[in-house]
Amino acid sequence: MATGATPSTRDSWATHAGFLLAAVGSAVGLGNMWRFSYIASQGGGAAFIIAYLVLVAVIGIPLMTSEFIVGRMTQVSPAKALRELGGTAWSPLGWLFVFCGFGILSYYSVIAGWTMRYAIVAIGTGIPAETGEYFGEVSQGTDALIGHLVFIALTVFVVVGGVKHGIERAAVILMPVLFLLLIGLAVWAFTLPGSREGYSNYLDPSFGELFNRRILTDAAGQAFFSLSLGMGALMTYASYIRDKRDLGREATIVATCDFGVAFLAGLVVFPIIFSFGLTDQVGESSVGALFISLPAGFSSMGVAGKIVGTTFFIMLLFAALTSSISLLEVVVAAFIDGLGWTRKKATITLGAVAAALGIPSAYSTNFLGAADAVIGNFLLIVGGLLTSIFVGYVILPKADAELAQGLESPLFRKGWAIMVRYVVPLILAVVCFFLIAPTWAAIQTMFGAGG
Ligand code: PHE
Repeated sequence: MATGATPSTRDSWATHAGFLLAAVGSAVGLGNMWRFSYIASQGGGAAFIIAYLVLVAVIGIPLMTSEFIVGRMTQVSPAKALRELGGTAWSPLGWLFVFCGFGILSYYSVIAGWTMRYAIVAIGTGIPAETGEYFGEVSQGTDALIGHLVFIALTVFVVVGGVKHGIERAAVILMPVLFLLLIGLAVWAFTLPGSREGYSNYLDPSFGELFNRRILTDAAGQAFFSLSLGMGALMTYASYIRDKRDLGREATIVATCDFGVAFLAGLVVFPIIFSFGLTDQVGESSVGALFISLPAGFSSMGVAGKIVGTTFFIMLLFAALTSSISLLEVVVAAFIDGLGWTRKKATITLGAVAAALGIPSAYSTNFLGAADAVIGNFLLIVGGLLTSIFVGYVILPKADAELAQGLESPLFRKGWAIMVRYVVPLILAVVCFFLIAPTWAAIQTMFGAGG
């Protein structure tokens, strides 16, 4: 393992809390605000949330722990770690991670670009009352492209600074502010006249849905995306951990915070939608709630709306930035470790590549949605399936020994091994199978009719 930068020259986290905040920052992102409440309201409310929590416990936490183990054990980027531990047969999985990093960043930053525009417009002139029309204008085309490019530049700016001085510093500043803003918004939303109706619509349990195949695939896809699993983001972050802390505990904390934020975001979004009678746009698309309904609510509230709207989009922007830096870091770390590039060269070059790859998404929301279905949903699950096979069958004794260092609960260790070996691969194989047809349709949209 003495390849590349020696452990002493390789960057690492300055503080224990720094790693945790960065990992929570990666997990908490647009997915929590943009996808979670939408999917919950579409697919069974509280029933969806229960299915989601079960999957987080049974798949999410064991897999996240596995990513942490591989990262800390090898102290190198995922592509290199997989090769060192499993031989060249496992390198392609590392490159799949890099592909997903590029792919998700390319469209994620388009949505983050919209967010940035909304935050700026909300502070200035205020978001136009015709929010549907406005969103149509700025979500595709030159406006969207500019937002995308500016946001990528912001991401590059943070990642160039390195682990301690870039990523950790950003997370330590932005994450506490994000939590405070979100709690403030939830309290405010509680005071709205339609909040009751909003809550019950969000959480209305249709338990018949619980055994519906779509709930399983939706919840699994959402869990992977939201927890930043299946593409080496948290593996990369864990490769900068030096001490023997309890990795099971860290994974549980990250997953709990991520769920907490997603749940809370729903408690903000739904009261607003119901108080202002904006339910009709929500069903159309997952972005409808965030970029059409909510701003319509804000703009009908005068000065208060301006303050709340600005707060909301700034919070969303912070969430997006602490996630996009983890996406770029996966790619950057792979090129630093694999090709010996300097951080500066890797960050700027690869940021430019991601910027170019995002152009189709900036010009077509159809393309964006399809890219999300293929990369942000299907490929993450494939990556997670392969990771569980790798950890559960190729390196289990080593991984188990690494987990044991610093672990407080022996029960967790036993449960983890059973999950990674049997439960996770089985469930993910079933989910993959169910996703083949919709993924194929999305690929056709990307390269065929959609364009
Ligand atoms: N977890 C992030 C979100 O919810 C997205 C993400 C996915 C980030 C995969 C990194 C890796 O927005």
